[in-house]
Amino acid sequence: MEKFVINGGNPLRGEVTISGAKNAALAIIPAAILSQDVCRIENVPTSISDVSFMIKTLKHIGAGVKLIDRTTIEIDSRFVNSYVIAHDMTKYLRASYYFIGALLGRFHRARVAMPGGCYLGPRPIDQHIKGFEALGAKVTVEDNAIVETTADELVGSPIYLDVVSVGATVNIMLASVKAQGLTIIENAAKEPHIVDLANFLNSMGADIRGAGTDVIKIRGTDHLHGCTYSIIPDQIEAGTFMVAAAATKGNVLIKNVIPKHLESISSKLVECGAVVEEYDEAVRVSMDTRPGKCNIKTMPHPGFPTDMQPQMAVLLALADGTSIVSESIWSNRFRYTEQLMRMGASITVDGQIAVIHGVDGLRGAPVRADDLRAGAAMIIAGLAASGRTEIEDILYIDRGYENVVEKFGNLGGDIRRVYCVEPFSNADAG
Ligand code: EPU
Repeated sequence: MEKFVINGGNPLRGEVTISGAKNAALAIIPAAILSQDVCRIENVPTSISDVSFMIKTLKHIGAGVKLIDRTTIEIDSRFVNSYVIAHDMTKYLRASYYFIGALLGRFHRARVAMPGGCYLGPRPIDQHIKGFEALGAKVTVEDNAIVETTADELVGSPIYLDVVSVGATVNIMLASVKAQGLTIIENAAKEPHIVDLANFLNSMGADIRGAGTDVIKIRGTDHLHGCTYSIIPDQIEAGTFMVAAAATKGNVLIKNVIPKHLESISSKLVECGAVVEEYDEAVRVSMDTRPGKCNIKTMPHPGFPTDMQPQMAVLLALADGTSIVSESIWSNRFRYTEQLMRMGASITVDGQIAVIHGVDGLRGAPVRADDLRAGAAMIIAGLAASGRTEIEDILYIDRGYENVVEKFGNLGGDIRRVYCVEPFSNADAG
């Protein structure tokens, strides 16, 4: 078992380079099997565990995967020979369900165990199923554990999503890109990784228009070919460093970003009193006063991202005044507030609203990462707090942040990964 040990109090200063976007990579990697060819994908965050799981799954179904360098992989999909993915491959991450759309698109058949992933409240897949069925597939969910879907042929169709869903938008794009005729996804998700997936598929020869708006039109093509493609920078990793710079009263140049993707985060930081300077492919965040309060409501893109809500709450926990955070995407994304309160934060949660009364300072404490972004929030809190913080369950953080110790360490953060003995349990009893 590993944990992070942080001695807080150092303002973060210097430069950090952001990795490729996790959530784009998790859609693009399975999308590669839609060609029977070789795709070279650059700017891949290869060292996060979610990406390793996707790569393992690709190999499991017969794809060849070569690591060309630390951020480039080559996927050879010529010999993919299985449409079955079992629970041991899907239990760790949500995005494993993108193989349903990709296998359906390639073989007109998929049998994939239900996905795992961070617990943020119920995570239904009814909109994915609605999309597959609209394309002509028959879908059965066996014992709430396995999704089996088959189609004699896939035929394009209009599909209106009842909720704006990133996952359903991705899965329908994957399943329809080789269908006959035109698919129109209405009320589609507009996140940057949706646009990135569309750009990747288009560079394989697909015909997808409108990605980034709420109507995406996909005209099916028989054949997709290999390509070379570079994944966009990770919006949420960038946002995490932006908030960390502000919360530690530091000054950090965050490089390899698309500032447009960060606008909602930048504007909230400015509202709290941070200075945010935008360059072509970088942003600098600095803060030298106590943060001011501000209210946040999470929304689908281009609104404030739910995946930045826990990190931003740390800044607000240190603000002068009371802030209100409304979570509108996930029904259970405030579990981390209990951990923050162990560090001295003053927060009351009522359903999907958290009221944060800013305190003068946080103090280090033993805490845990309840999920990936909750873990990122604990790192920021530990770096901003006085004294020593120990974070357990860091496997969640390793799912989505590359070289996190090195990146924060290079900015002057005192953070170490340490190995610790598993606590004694009955399983150990002789
Ligand atoms: N929803 C339904 N039915 C569906 C699908 C979704 O009701 O069939 C609901 C969900 O319950 C939720 C809302 O729609 O209330 C949005 O869910 P969405 O499908 O957009 O989320 P997701 O695709 O499961 C992705 C990211 C999450 C991020 C959300 C929202 C990936 C792999 N995951 O999840 O990222 O929170 O979009 O932006 O792209 C993370 O990176 O830490 C993370 C959790």
